[in-house]
Amino acid sequence: TYIGLDLGTSSLKAILIDEDQNVLAEHTVAMTVARPREGWSEQDPQQWFDATCTAIKALGARADLSSVRGIGLSGHMHGATLIDANDTVLRPCILWNDTRSFAEATALDADPKFRDLSGNIVFAGFTAPKIAWVKNNEPDIFAKIAKVLLPKDYLRLMLIGDYVAEMSDAAGTSWLDVAKRDWSDDLLAATDLDRSHMPRLVEGSQSSGEIRASLAQELGLPKGVVVAGGGGDNAASAIGAGVVKSGDAFVSLGTSGVLFAASDAYQPDAASAVHTFCHALPDTWHQMGVILAATDALQWLSRLTGLSAAELTGNLGDLKAPSRTLFLPYLGGERTPHNDTKIRGQFLHLDHATDAKEAARAVVEGVTFAFADCHMALKSTGTTIERALAMGGGAKSDYWLQAIATALNIPLMVPQTGDFGAALGAARLAIMAVTGAGPEVASMPPIAKTVDPNLSLQSAFSEAYARYRAAYTTLKDLPA
Ligand code: XUL
Repeated sequence: TYIGLDLGTSSLKAILIDEDQNVLAEHTVAMTVARPREGWSEQDPQQWFDATCTAIKALGARADLSSVRGIGLSGHMHGATLIDANDTVLRPCILWNDTRSFAEATALDADPKFRDLSGNIVFAGFTAPKIAWVKNNEPDIFAKIAKVLLPKDYLRLMLIGDYVAEMSDAAGTSWLDVAKRDWSDDLLAATDLDRSHMPRLVEGSQSSGEIRASLAQELGLPKGVVVAGGGGDNAASAIGAGVVKSGDAFVSLGTSGVLFAASDAYQPDAASAVHTFCHALPDTWHQMGVILAATDALQWLSRLTGLSAAELTGNLGDLKAPSRTLFLPYLGGERTPHNDTKIRGQFLHLDHATDAKEAARAVVEGVTFAFADCHMALKSTGTTIERALAMGGGAKSDYWLQAIATALNIPLMVPQTGDFGAALGAARLAIMAVTGAGPEVASMPPIAKTVDPNLSLQSAFSEAYARYRAAYTTLKDLPA
């Protein structure tokens, strides 16, 4: 059997699957995010390891772990986990949706070698500018850095006692030469680091080492369990959903929102603000548009109104023409297509009659238009998406899927069960690492239904989308 661990921003999920990929047990542990200042977003790495131990023990209480052969890891990307020479964590991990390092990101991005070698804009959320921020603001901590690890790779260190990264997550640091799938000495030097600060690299489907014997015993695992390279959460989700070759795509409505397309070739176009990263399989890449707040925007409204996300979007019924109320979901700035850390969320055209339900519909529509922006950006790079799998917690809302299918003019395929995803992708990478199997292990899930674009509402959606775009242009320079 195999374990897939998905370290998410709001929860850690563990699943146990058998050789035929039947899910035997699963367990989820909630995670918290600290936002000590505006634009900051941090997590204590100890929380990840504690949650992992809790989750594996919970699997063991429900199923037999004595035949586990491999574990795969998935994790939220870009976080900077800084450790000293004794593996002690030097400060809370600065997460993917933290924008404090906007000035450092702009400065690094102005150096053309970053876009040339990493294939991407240096976004404030990426790892390298965070280190530049630490150097500028916490020089004592910077001086003690022995290794910089991505969140799931810190978890790996706890599990196997070795420093290892894999290509898909490493591609989001701004230090990887994404074409060569190797660290770039030049890019590391630009942030006063070198190769010694980096973990060694493997492919997502290769072994990175074995679980430490004492830990295996404590967790009820057998000896010699292989830990696969794994993947950043988006690449791992793609493996879980069978999105592995050119033409395959998914839309993910998680904390962040992602429109993801797999590719057999490396075709970066940094200026579009599309992300071009290695996939978790050798010789494969992917492109994606990333919006920072998808279900997170609904969570925000939920905190504001005291109504749960399900209550807010529960009985919206069949798709309607978009509300006049307009919501821009830029609660923590935006990546694709704006690369703008300063913009913030907006509610426009509020009326006496606007109630919580109307506001919720505007939030759902606003996130939908943010996905439409990602689709435009992907198209501008030459990537065509003909259909996409729908994934993530927000995909449970049929209204949301109808809106996205209509605004993007793409049919969305809804899988039969929610058991695929990053945890399944991670477990599949473990199967590959242990058995030497290839992408055939990553099949598409059985599809329950396809949500087609609503053609009669398409012009209403295009008009509202044009207002949405105009709103950003009008408001982006308004002083805060
Ligand atoms: C991708 C990104 C997010 C996180 C969320 O670039 O920042 O999707 O990986 O978990």
